[in-house]
Amino acid sequence: MLKLFPILFFTLLHKNALANKVEQVHLSLSGDMTEMVVTWLTQGPLPNVTPYVTYGLSKDALRWTAKASTTSWKDQGAHGYVRYTHRATMTKMVPGDLYYYKVGSSQAMSDTFHFHQPDPSKPLRAAIFGDLSVYKGQPTINQLTSATIDGHFDLIIHIGDLAYDLHDNEGNRGDDYMNAIQPFAAYVPYMVFAGNHESDSHFNQIVNRFTMPKNGVYNNNLFWSFDYGFVHFIALNSEYYAEDMSAEAQAQYQWLQADLEKTKAKWKIVMFHRPWYCSTRDQSGCNSYSDMLSRKGKTGYPGLEKLLHDNKVDLVLYGHKHTYERMWPIYDGVGYKSSDSGHVKNAKAPVYILTGGAGCHTHEGPSDTTPQSFSVTRLGQYGYTRFKVYNSTHVSTYFVDTSDKVGNFMDRFYLEKD
Ligand SMILES: *[C@@H]1O[C@H](CO)[C@@H](O)[C@H](O)[C@H]1NC(C)=O
Repeated sequence: MLKLFPILFFTLLHKNALANKVEQVHLSLSGDMTEMVVTWLTQGPLPNVTPYVTYGLSKDALRWTAKASTTSWKDQGAHGYVRYTHRATMTKMVPGDLYYYKVGSSQAMSDTFHFHQPDPSKPLRAAIFGDLSVYKGQPTINQLTSATIDGHFDLIIHIGDLAYDLHDNEGNRGDDYMNAIQPFAAYVPYMVFAGNHESDSHFNQIVNRFTMPKNGVYNNNLFWSFDYGFVHFIALNSEYYAEDMSAEAQAQYQWLQADLEKTKAKWKIVMFHRPWYCSTRDQSGCNSYSDMLSRKGKTGYPGLEKLLHDNKVDLVLYGHKHTYERMWPIYDGVGYKSSDSGHVKNAKAPVYILTGGAGCHTHEGPSDTTPQSFSVTRLGQYGYTRFKVYNSTHVSTYFVDTSDKVGNFMDRFYLEKD
């Protein structure tokens, strides 16, 4: 008995410590540029204590605190593990200022992280990509991390398909992924929405692991928009179409229409997971029936392409196909070509970029595709897209190759308008 006691004691202590441990810290924008949201997770409940964030302008003086709200949620795996997501909003933030913060409770705190509150009066620099896992995606995660620490991003946006899959292995895959990206996601807002790999169990993992702007219809992270300087970003859920969710597809359409009519932003950027245009092995390019539904629509499923075009959306980004391709401005299958494919001015339709090659189990290169007439560039390397907004007249994109350590910049593209 005497001999057993220390072991038992240690086991209990160990388990308890793990259950309260702060994991998976990540930032996101609420849509209010004077706020910063932080979300984290514990594997166990925190009875009788209040989780919170403490933050300030110096590492040694975290002067302010904000209480978190906690959601307990059940994983859809066979064991139905319950996890605890904690969400807190830092308020009255000054654009451009450097803040330090840590999160947790009286039982366990995180390390101290830091971030710059976004400054909409400065050029905006974002990393945008889809289809990233821990396995083949580690080089991309490493480069996103070093570029974040070097201060190159104001924002990172993941356009669906995370972790492959967040719910796999009783949700442990999701925990591993969220811990693997903490080195960048705790330092710069990380915005997400669903791809086909997240639709399982009513999008359980996207709903419960993240905190996106609450201006959609359901406020459940699946579609949302926000303004940042000259840009209005819109994220849409293409999975409502693929999953036969007609009521939600219609609600999203109505919301999108109102959202587009309301915005006065100079640049309108729309993102969703499934591609409408790209070159594939198929002679006719990207034309999977379930991908096309959100473009063309059918009874009970309003097509989105005309709405985006009529409201002068500038740029559309998507993933799903695990490669990179940049296209001309396109409407209804027709590419609007002009003299310089690297610099398009006053485009007549949205420009399309497929950026689904951040790194996952399978990969598609350009060598076995049939280039479509609206296609400009096809690249086979793993990597992500950088998006920069200089001002009201110029934005640029380029592809960052993460397949080696150098991170070559490729396919620079300018979009200009009067
Ligand atoms: C906007 O930025 C571009 C690229 O740096 C620059 O060439 C252009 O002169 C700027 N325009 C305005 C109005 O500041």
